Amino acid sequence: MLSVAFLTLASAAVSVATNLYVSSYEGVVHTVKLKQGAGDLLYLEPNATTAGCASSPSWLELDGENRILYCIDEGLQFPQPAGSLSSYNIQENGILAQQNRFQTVVAGPVHGVLYKKGDQQAMAMAHYSGSSITNWKVSLEGDITFLTNVTFTMDSPGPNEQRQEAPHEHQALIDPTGNFLLFPDLGADLVRVFSVDEHLNMQREEPLAVEPGSGPRHAAFWQADDESPLYLFVVTELANTLTSYAVTYPEEGGMAFEEKFVTNTFGGETIPEGAAAAEIQVAPSNDFILISNRNDSSFMLPNIDPTNSTLEESDSIASFRPSAADGSLEFVQLTPAGGLFPRHFSLNAAGDVVAIALQRSSRVVLMARDVHSGEVGNPVGVVELEGELTAVIWDEF
Ligand SMILES: *[C@@H]1O[C@H](CO)[C@@H](O)[C@H](O)[C@H]1NC(C)=O
Ligand SMILES: *[C@@H]1O[C@H](CO)[C@@H](O)[C@H](O)[C@H]1NC(C)=O
Ligand SMILES: *[C@@H]1O[C@H](CO)[C@@H](O)[C@H](O)[C@H]1NC(C)=O
Ligand SMILES: *[C@@H]1O[C@H](CO)[C@@H](O)[C@H](O)[C@H]1NC(C)=O
Repeated sequence: MLSVAFLTLASAAVSVATNLYVSSYEGVVHTVKLKQGAGDLLYLEPNATTAGCASSPSWLELDGENRILYCIDEGLQFPQPAGSLSSYNIQENGILAQQNRFQTVVAGPVHGVLYKKGDQQAMAMAHYSGSSITNWKVSLEGDITFLTNVTFTMDSPGPNEQRQEAPHEHQALIDPTGNFLLFPDLGADLVRVFSVDEHLNMQREEPLAVEPGSGPRHAAFWQADDESPLYLFVVTELANTLTSYAVTYPEEGGMAFEEKFVTNTFGGETIPEGAAAAEIQVAPSNDFILISNRNDSSFMLPNIDPTNSTLEESDSIASFRPSAADGSLEFVQLTPAGGLFPRHFSLNAAGDVVAIALQRSSRVVLMARDVHSGEVGNPVGVVELEGELTAVIWDEF
């Protein structure tokens, strides 16, 4: 059952040729068209539902230039090994035509990053349940070739014995030099570091060890400008901390991290019981960072169904303003995510709309964002879609 709602748009300037792609554990990728309606209305129209990314689509990466969408499947419905990586040609109207599907040798990929190395393209993936990372060559046409996998082990469980019984790779990210891949490991309390050479060979480097029991999930690099220090901001799922590290590149190789600042994903306020921070993104104007909190129920909102007078619980989005001088993070605001379990969100190119994928509410909410103050507010669009939603990305063309 799909239902579409209209809401007033504050001041967002969304390009009319815009699609959102939304991955769902229902086994599909939804294409949603954005349309400028009459006056200030933004209209979200579910336009297509595409299968083929197997049972548990968990992450999407867009190669906008070559009109290819990559879908990562966590393979939750199968015995191991079962994860997969698919590529789709993006056709007119955002219709997706499957190009390639490759079954992975290890289970449970939850995230991947598309990166360039010289004139080659590759995808590194983080396998949560498989305690592994994999690296893939991907052509400009979306052809996929497996390169390598690395599996990690732990001698004994971490402080959180339930969640840290094994290594759990949660994200893959490429550093700004393009020479290092990083993988936050929720189970091992590490951010694993690998160098990657021009042949796409990976070599293990010294990892970043984070607070025991904190469970690092996602991280983002940030540098104010070429002259400023480079920082890595790490979000932990089990402790809901947000930690800033100054990053340097020692002459002898690898990466070095110096802890600069620690807060939590609620701007230093008390962490609600059960909270589990999820995503971190740098705003396109490079002056704010946004984080999603799941299961914190920080807000009560009017029901999405206008005939229902019961209020709904909502989890939250937190915004911070980073300082180039010392890596500290000034808390800007905690605002409703528009539903439950904002597992992922992403900003449009102008940075004035945030699309939020609400896993437990099975809806995508668009929130207007003031690019000057960094404040997120006003819902400007919502679409209800089938399944637990895992990622939402913009395609503006
Ligand atoms: C998708 O959009 C195109 C162009 O607006 C339209 O022709 C088509 O009917 C739409 N498909 C669905 C399933 O809504
Ligand atoms: C790659 O994955 C396979 C299947 O899970 C595993 O048997 C093998 O040990 C892995 N290789 C490495 C180098 O981790
Ligand atoms: C959500 O939080 C509640 C406590 O408020 C906790 O009992 C529950 O296990 C949490 N759920 C998840 C999926 O983390
Ligand atoms: C009204 O909304 C509440 C909270 O979302 C929900 O639990 C309830 O089922 C809704 N009632 C109807 C009649 O849809």
